[in-house]
Amino acid sequence: MHMKKKRIYLDYASTTPLDPRVFATMKPYFQEKFGNPMSLHSFGQEASKAVEKARKYAADFFGCEPSEIIFTSGATESNNLVIKGVTIGYASQLKKNKKNKLKPHIITTQFEHSCVLSACKKLEEQGMAEITYLPVEKEGVVNIKEAQRAIKKNTILVSIMYVNNEIGTIQPIKEIGKLITKINENRGTKIIFHTDAVQAINYLDCKVDNLGTDLLTASAHKIYGPKGVGCLYIRKNTPIRRIQDGGGHEFGLRSGTHNVPGIVGLGMALELADKERKKNYKIVEKLRDHLISRIMKEIKGVKLNGSKIKRIPNNANFIFKDAEGEGLLLGLDMKGIAVSTGSACSAGDLRPSHVLLAIGLSEEESHGSLRVTLGKYTTKQEVDYFINALKEVVNRLRKIAGK
Ligand SMILES: Cc1ncc(COP(=O)(O)O)c(C=O)c1O
Repeated sequence: MHMKKKRIYLDYASTTPLDPRVFATMKPYFQEKFGNPMSLHSFGQEASKAVEKARKYAADFFGCEPSEIIFTSGATESNNLVIKGVTIGYASQLKKNKKNKLKPHIITTQFEHSCVLSACKKLEEQGMAEITYLPVEKEGVVNIKEAQRAIKKNTILVSIMYVNNEIGTIQPIKEIGKLITKINENRGTKIIFHTDAVQAINYLDCKVDNLGTDLLTASAHKIYGPKGVGCLYIRKNTPIRRIQDGGGHEFGLRSGTHNVPGIVGLGMALELADKERKKNYKIVEKLRDHLISRIMKEIKGVKLNGSKIKRIPNNANFIFKDAEGEGLLLGLDMKGIAVSTGSACSAGDLRPSHVLLAIGLSEEESHGSLRVTLGKYTTKQEVDYFINALKEVVNRLRKIAGK
């Protein structure tokens, strides 16, 4: 008899399965309620109502007005809109003020997601902005004083992620928010504060007034919602311009026919994340702590990357001496277990993780990391099965390497 292979998913930071309750709310909008929300007839109005309901859920989640939420295709798009749209907004203000000739200055960190980093690099290359990439401390946390020191006369935007997607470390967003609010009291051109909160939504307080952010990025597929949809919170009166031209949807900031089922799914995913945050936090934290303590005890030559305390409850990121990350990932995959490695693999070219390099690891070490991220469907049996498999794979790789 053919036995179905056991499969265990421990890569929740990469994406999450769709919650069946989210899927159930989305389903009618693929078929019987298929209208275009911009249409004036009843089909359109039915879809429009669903989009506005989702906008209300998102507004409740972030503690803002529905008119301060726009829907996008995900965090990559939201982050591009932030970095480029704020720069364009500033440039058009400059045209009005002929005396000011300074190029806009943006502050971000060395370990942001690649969509933020490459949007910044592009502006830099095109001579449209000057960028400061803040260093990160060994523990994987940005230093507030360092951020303060980086602020200049021409700083228009500070963009710092809430939680790092590789090592799960939590950044001092509230403190930086307070600092910027204070600095803004004595400035003509206000500094805009953005956070990419993609990895924080499931577990941390994301009320924008508590954080002090003007812009906040979220993505549905990291919170048990569908792929290809996200949102951006934009505080009222924030000078940001569209980067995509078209029919003027989403208050003129994001043209393109709404992904109605996706938006409905995002709304429901946010509602569930809010309701179930405490419960899910406890479940994954207990399992993650069990995982870390067993691995540290039972495998020699292992190191946990990033702060143990200032860390999201579902993330563990290790380096195993004499066992490469890719080798571990493939060995575990053969056993049906899905985890992730820090290094980005593009066109067969293996580059070390920019996140691990930013926290001071060597190039060699930065190749060897293994990221394990748990979720609300993870069980203790799965964690224990994973640890036993990991022990075997590490031993095998070390034997091959002659260690
Ligand atoms: C911190 C962070 N920002 C942005 C993204 C990109 O999100 P999306 O897949 O919605 O474009 C991700 C997901 O990989 C992420 O973890």
